[in-house]
Amino acid sequence: GIIRKPAAFVSTICDERGQELSYCGVPITSILEKQMGVGGTISLLWFQRELPDWACKFFELVLIVTADHGPAVSGAHNTMVTARAGKDLISSVVSGLLTIGDRFGGALDRAAADFCAAYDKGQHPQEFVNEKRAKGELIMGIGHRVKSINNPDSRVRELKAYVTSRWPAWPVTRYALDVEAITTRKKPNLILNVDGIVAAAMVDLFRHCQLFTQEEGNSYISMGSINALFVLGRTIGLVGHYLDQKRLKQPLYRHPWDDITYMSPLN
Ligand code: ACO
Ligand code: LMR
Repeated sequence: GIIRKPAAFVSTICDERGQELSYCGVPITSILEKQMGVGGTISLLWFQRELPDWACKFFELVLIVTADHGPAVSGAHNTMVTARAGKDLISSVVSGLLTIGDRFGGALDRAAADFCAAYDKGQHPQEFVNEKRAKGELIMGIGHRVKSINNPDSRVRELKAYVTSRWPAWPVTRYALDVEAITTRKKPNLILNVDGIVAAAMVDLFRHCQLFTQEEGNSYISMGSINALFVLGRTIGLVGHYLDQKRLKQPLYRHPWDDITYMSPLN
C-alpha cells in the first residue's frame, strides 16, 4: 500500500488549498455574506465555532474599548520611543506589546483563573481577598493607577452593562464585582479594572453560557486566550501611536537628566 509520510504540522483552523479560503470550514464569502465581522472571525479562528452574535459583538466591544488609553501608558510609551529612534512599524509595535504583562494589560488570564477557581470552590469573596492578602499577592484584575470609584472607568461601566444585560448567566462577573466591593472599601482605586471585567466575563462565557464543554472552557482559560483580546485591541492603538510619531516627524527621544535620580552605590 501507499505509505503516507507523517505530516510535520496539524492545523485545524484555516484551509487555503481549495478555490476559496475558509476559516474553520466556513468559506470567506459566507463570513462576509453573513456579516460575521471581526467578532465572528475571532470566534472561528480562536474558538473553532460560530459563537452567538452577543458573544461576537462582545469581542468587538473589547477591541474598541481596549484599543488605546493615551500616550502615557507603558505600551504606547515604548512604541513612541521606538518610533522616535527611527525604527520601523513592526519593531515599534512589538516594543509596545512587550510591556503587556501582569501589571499592564496582561492580567486577564490570571484574573480569570483566580476568579474561576475561587468561585468554583465556593469561597466567599471576603475570604478570597483575605487569602490573597495573607499570601502577600495582588489580586489580578483589581486596581488602577488613575481610575477609582471617584473617577470611574467608563470602559468598565460599558463592559459591565453589556455583560449583565446580554449574558445568559454571569456568576463569575457577579463574584468579581463582589470582590471589588470589598477592595474599594480599603482603597478607592482598587476597582475591578478593564482586565478584570473582561476576564470575569470570559470565564462566564466559557463556563456558564452553555457554549463550551467544561473541559474546553477550562482549557481556553488556562491557555492564554483571554489576554489575547487585550493584545489584539491594544495593537490598534500602538499602530496609531507609531503613525502619529512618524507623521509629526518627532526626533530621537532622550529622557531629561533632571527627571532621573542618579544614585551610585560607590559615592
Ligand atoms: N490587589 C490587592 N491590593 C492591591 C492591588 C491588588 N490588585 N493593587 C494595589 N494594591 C494595594 C497595594 O498592595 C498597596 O497597598 P499598601 O498601600 O497597603 O501598600 C496599594 O494598593 C497601592 O499599591 P500600588 O502598587 O502603589 O498601586 P498602583 O496604583 O501603583 O497599581 C496596578 C496599579 C499596577 C494596576 C496594581 O493595582 C496591580 O498590579 N493590579 C493587579 C494587576 C492588574 O490588574 N493589572 C491590570 C491593570 S489594568 C490595565 O493595565 C489595562
Ligand atoms: C490601559 O488601558 O492602558 C490602562 O488601563 C492602564 C493605565 O494606566 O491607564
